[in-house]
Amino acid sequence: MSTVLHLRAETKPLEHRSCLTPTTAKALVDAGYDVRVERSPQSIFEDKEFEDAGIPLVPTGSWIDAPEDHLIVGLKELPEDNFPLKHEHIQFAHVFKQQTGYRETLSRYENCLYDLEFLNDANGRRVAAFGYYAGFAGAALALEIWAWNVTHPDGEGYPAVKPYPNEDALISHVKGSIEKAKAVNGGAEPRVIIIGALGRCGSGSVDMCTKVGLGEESILKWDMAETAKGGPFEEITQSDIFINCIYLMGKIPPFVTREAINADKDRKLRLICDVACDPNSPFNPVPVYDIWTTFDQPTVDVSGIESGPPISVISIDHLPTLLPRESSESFSSQLLPSLLQLKDRETARVWADAKKLFKEKKAEL
Ligand SMILES: NC(=O)c1ccc[n+]([C@@H]2O[C@H](COP(=O)([O-])OP(=O)(O)OC[C@H]3O[C@@H](n4cnc5c(N)ncnc54)[C@H](O)[C@@H]3O)[C@@H](O)[C@H]2O)c1
Repeated sequence: MSTVLHLRAETKPLEHRSCLTPTTAKALVDAGYDVRVERSPQSIFEDKEFEDAGIPLVPTGSWIDAPEDHLIVGLKELPEDNFPLKHEHIQFAHVFKQQTGYRETLSRYENCLYDLEFLNDANGRRVAAFGYYAGFAGAALALEIWAWNVTHPDGEGYPAVKPYPNEDALISHVKGSIEKAKAVNGGAEPRVIIIGALGRCGSGSVDMCTKVGLGEESILKWDMAETAKGGPFEEITQSDIFINCIYLMGKIPPFVTREAINADKDRKLRLICDVACDPNSPFNPVPVYDIWTTFDQPTVDVSGIESGPPISVISIDHLPTLLPRESSESFSSQLLPSLLQLKDRETARVWADAKKLFKEKKAEL
């Protein structure tokens, strides 16, 4: 009997991404899995795209009544409720680190929760992550809002951001904005410093800067070697845009501070995009702001700036949502090799480890 995967429609507001795409769903079917996809009014993938790939559609929300041996696949949290969850679920649940409400949510999972955040390969590295498109989208917004600030010296704030249908649309929009900014900026393109440039988010940021046409000399790519001397760094205040993409693992000297900003009388820095965005961490290496921003209000200003133009910070913690199609495709294809092992999930290491973790977390309740 084949393993049945039931892709549930996402219900979290504004979530257009999907854990399975027409491409990966078809690959699973080709490998002998039985995949059903709920009709979804909010997915970036139209129902017809799944249908065209030969995947049967089922009603929205029908996972609840699906036979208990079907695996329920989703991306983000289930809507809040209190009925017991009898199926095995694959999704991000945000409950294993004792997040707000974790007890109530985790206690509902009676069978198994395979949390996507904790599916690791043999080296302990996540099998699938959204990092690349977080960095890509973060750099796009950074360039876009830098250009807006340059062309709106009256201080008018950047309007709400909407997801883009695809990468090309985003790139061409950002390119146009940079051209307008260059026209009032003496023809100069922005100098961007990316820290954590060798990681997933960082490489996405580098690629975005390259794809919109910035020259090599305008993109400073820093990682561990360059920050080893310890911040704060003049190279940041001397760049127009700073994009922080590091994976913070403990206490490090800050990369930039208010004092360093005020001390640089010839400061260029106008825009910070904190992709890593750890404003609540005592080790936050960008301690010049303390809130998360949103697509509705994408920036917050650095307070306490004594002279020169304001500095805006973008600290959105769900950046890949800007490009739901490509970010889903990338995530789902990274996940596919593990999904293809689901029929042997009792013994396949990645799933067996995830189940063990679930059991430990349940036992701790
Ligand atoms: N804002 C969002 O929407 C979003 C989305 C996904 C991930 N993230 C976050 O982005 C961060 C990075 O994720 P990732 O997947 O790219 O991690 P990663 O491990 O792939 O890359 C991190 C990079 O940072 C470098 N680094 C670490 N400490 C450094 C230091 N002190 N100086 C210079 N470089 C340093 C590492 O060498 C590595 O190249 C994580 O905190 C993750 O939670 C944010």
